[in-house]
Amino acid sequence: MAIKIKTAEEIQKMRVAGQLAANVLDKITPHVVAGISTGELNQIMHDFMVNEQGTIPATLNYHGFPASSCISVNQVVCHGIPDNAKKLKNGDIVNIDVTVIKDGYHGDTSMMFEIGAVKPFASRLCQVARECLWLGIEQVKPEATLYDVAFAIQQHAEANNYSVVREYCGHGIGADFHEEPQVLHYAAEELKEIVLKPGMVFTIEPMINQGKAPVKLLGDNWTVVTKDRKLSAQWEHTLTVTDDGYEIFTLRHGEVPVLP
Ligand code: MF3
Ligand code: CO
Ligand code: CO
Repeated sequence: MAIKIKTAEEIQKMRVAGQLAANVLDKITPHVVAGISTGELNQIMHDFMVNEQGTIPATLNYHGFPASSCISVNQVVCHGIPDNAKKLKNGDIVNIDVTVIKDGYHGDTSMMFEIGAVKPFASRLCQVARECLWLGIEQVKPEATLYDVAFAIQQHAEANNYSVVREYCGHGIGADFHEEPQVLHYAAEELKEIVLKPGMVFTIEPMINQGKAPVKLLGDNWTVVTKDRKLSAQWEHTLTVTDDGYEIFTLRHGEVPVLP
């Protein structure tokens, strides 16, 4: 019941797994355009993971989840199920979340895509959610707490009149997909007790809503939508605490911090 500290050997495997997860997003990026279905996107990523990378798609059959990625469009907060009948259209905002397993270790990352001409209010939500991720990441160093991470995220979301989803959070990650601790993205007091130490590995993955925070689970028992059906955006990285800060395992090609 404690947060695992990874060994140098485990960290190296997670570096590899994280890089492979990021490569899946780089691979899918040119395909994320109006007219393609989320089912087709999932199939391309599945084939790339299994046939080209030799990775295992961690979400497939995870607690019964039926696909190799989660694809969450517009008011879908997370865990959208890829669907051959769900075509992307001009103006959509889309989260693609992939988790690979390589050599027994997980890499988990997600990002937003804007399809064609997206309305400025929707584009701004994606941008602020991305800044929330980076503001959270920037808090990570030994002796900081997860409260510092959460506070930075919540403060920036709410300063922009957005809200932070409460029901879903980031997580420790390693040989298991979801390990301790729960990385909440709002400033809960109990987070002050979670002190960061070198070798901890976790995700930060804030879900930021355009409207109010409450969410609703659809009848498929996976798809999470905003209760008010306004938009939601999310970005995710897997990172470790180092001796003097952090190292992100899931950086994409050429990716640099996006801060306000
Ligand atoms: N990748 C998601 C996360 O960031 C988890 C998806 S679990 C699934 O934690 F079952 F919905 F695939
Ligand atoms: Co994820
Ligand atoms: Co995650």
